[in-house]
Amino acid sequence: MTAKYHLMREGALEESIDLDVVKPVQGPLAVDVTKLYRDQGLLTYDPGFMSTASCESRITYIDGEAGILEYRGYPIEQLAKEADYLEVAYLLLYGELPNKNQLLEFDDIITHHTMLNENLKEFFGGFHYDAHPMAIMVGVVGSLSAFYHDSTDINNPRHREISAHRLIAKIPTIAAASYKHSVGEPITYPDNELSYCANLLHMMFATPCEPYHPHPIAVEAMNLLFILHADHEQNASTSTVRLAGSSQANPFACIAAGIASLWGPAHGGANEAVLDMLTEIGDVSNIEKYIAKAKDKKDPFRLMGFGHRVYKHYDPRANILRETCKRVLDELADNNNPLFELALELEQIALKDEYFLERKLYPNVDFYSGIIYRALNIPNNMFTVMFAIARTVGWVSHWMEMMSDPMQRIGRPRQVYMGPPRRDFIPLDKRA
Ligand code: CMC
Repeated sequence: MTAKYHLMREGALEESIDLDVVKPVQGPLAVDVTKLYRDQGLLTYDPGFMSTASCESRITYIDGEAGILEYRGYPIEQLAKEADYLEVAYLLLYGELPNKNQLLEFDDIITHHTMLNENLKEFFGGFHYDAHPMAIMVGVVGSLSAFYHDSTDINNPRHREISAHRLIAKIPTIAAASYKHSVGEPITYPDNELSYCANLLHMMFATPCEPYHPHPIAVEAMNLLFILHADHEQNASTSTVRLAGSSQANPFACIAAGIASLWGPAHGGANEAVLDMLTEIGDVSNIEKYIAKAKDKKDPFRLMGFGHRVYKHYDPRANILRETCKRVLDELADNNNPLFELALELEQIALKDEYFLERKLYPNVDFYSGIIYRALNIPNNMFTVMFAIARTVGWVSHWMEMMSDPMQRIGRPRQVYMGPPRRDFIPLDKRA
């Protein structure tokens, strides 16, 4: 299929060109502009990639208008209800749901890769005691590239798979160690008897003096949050991983780049920012004032946890979490209810406000995830780390997909240059 485009210059038709159109399995048609520069000397201009598909992918599908999210074709609602996080991780990584044996084997591999090289532990001591855990994550995950030299051939699919397993397995151990460092407690080793999520809670909260028995509701809630955060197609951090990987960089370094991108409050840092915002608002009586601030173009304040580049309808992940949020708070954290009430009130007011309706700004997944993490006693500065653990499988799946794509080439956007035109150098003593 092709589409005809008319090139106009100064109001006059210069030329008509045919561009190939790529037809996806689902979603809007995409105009193939790969040869536009070669054939026409023209670039496309799209800051923020508002209308640009950067790759073909078979992993995740989003229909932002209809509020649909699917992993490998499976609706997020069904996965959230039926699946275990590692089952979803397998699905994202390999493309199909595992059978019983495949799941047992995958679980066993991940469980037996959770330990860190002892020397890696030394890294944590090098960070200031109050370093943000995301800063520690960026550094320590990047440093994995200096440890596992037996599988660094990115052109070897088996090496790529080993790196993927190591990343999924070690990320919770690194995250928990970042937390332990920030509270001045010794690192807790993984416990191979526990599930992925229970083990993370154990590594965060057990001490050498006292065991820790994760509450089943906490494990269940974390499993759900991890499934919902596992992938989200070509978001900023995933695109960062792909771009870093496109130069054939080491996978651990690419994932560290993804973690850095996730950290920002416009992306994964939003869950921490939501809690900061709710604490700042403090009381239902202050909501109107903060809504007014969010609408004021001269004020940089935004309602954190509202709006999404792709969802122009309710974020389906937020729909699922809203109910869980209520249940977790009822069961685990009565004293957090005022915060939830404040959040619900804020949501209700924003949902009726013309400004938010016009711009289709609905609550997103992170409006609720922070509140749930808070109820699980996870400190605010660990919320984005939790997101990073869950998203690692998404990043790794995209990296694996890209690396096995025969069309793969280095990602190299162009620009529209708006700086000074060519001019001659002025010696220092002649400058004004
Ligand atoms: N509060 C107030 N106004 C907003 C908000 C908000 N949260 N989000 C967008 N707007 C306004 C914005 O000012 C603009 O108004 P106008 O057209 O009058 O200039 C309009 O809505 C469109 O905003 P945009 O910034 O052009 O939209 P975007 O697609 O570039 O940004 C976003 C998407 C998620 C970065 C943005 O909505 C935002 O900053 N939200 C708050 C942060 C947040 O919750 N991020 C988590 C996203 S979900 C987790 C993830 O997947 O990363």
